[in-house]
Amino acid sequence: MKFSVLTLFPEMFEPIKKSIIGKATEKNIIEINLINIRDFSEDKHKKVDDTPYGGGAGMVIMPDVVYRAYLSIPDRENAKVIYLTPQGTTFNQSKAEELSKNNNHIILLCGHYEGIDQRVINKIVDEEISIGDYVLTGGELPAMVVIDTLSRYIDGVLNKESIQEETFSNGLLEYPQYTRPETFLNEKVPDVLLSGHHENIKKWREDQSLTITKQKRPDLLKKT
Ligand SMILES: C[S@@+](CC[C@H](N)C(=O)[O-])C[C@H]1O[C@@H](n2cnc3c(N)ncnc32)[C@H](O)[C@@H]1O
Repeated sequence: MKFSVLTLFPEMFEPIKKSIIGKATEKNIIEINLINIRDFSEDKHKKVDDTPYGGGAGMVIMPDVVYRAYLSIPDRENAKVIYLTPQGTTFNQSKAEELSKNNNHIILLCGHYEGIDQRVINKIVDEEISIGDYVLTGGELPAMVVIDTLSRYIDGVLNKESIQEETFSNGLLEYPQYTRPETFLNEKVPDVLLSGHHENIKKWREDQSLTITKQKRPDLLKKT
């Protein structure tokens, strides 16, 4: 799967080059292309923004610069273009699964300052996604959230079991996890997990999932 990211701050994407996503890019399972919108400014000072028509605070990213950056992506015709914006549909696990299964190439457009001139959004964007009801300074963190979440569904990035049993995957939160040592600060790992009895372990985990979901996220149970 390929992600092309249109951003004014490609250097903000260093964290996504590490750990599991970093390894997946090294193995060419996923590809992340960072496109610096500023490289497409035709202004001698590389200006990319201007004051809003009609007045008001802040600066707006100009449409022509974004459009030229978009046109530089060779295989853009078959890609889905997503604008990260607090005005978009709220991102969640099922949205991530749907996007990862139905697309081979996603273009992520990151705004900054007051946002991007509406005309280029109208021209190139297929879908708007928000990562929650709060306003960030830019779309870079949301783009990384989307890349990370979608990548976990791509074959070869993780083993399949870890996705199937996880929080939200079946509408419930995941059961608690334990590892060595068997006793930590006087608290022992639940006996059932040491029993080797697979049926009992499965039942215990299902019960725990349900109990924890009732306690922490009762709203999830109402949805099912
Ligand atoms: C300060 S925000 C602009 C907010 C815009 N003026 C508004 O009121 O809708 C700058 C950029 O950050 C990104 N952004 C901010 N909050 C976001 C969120 N919750 N989800 C996704 N992107 C967000 C968007 O790309 C946006 O263009």
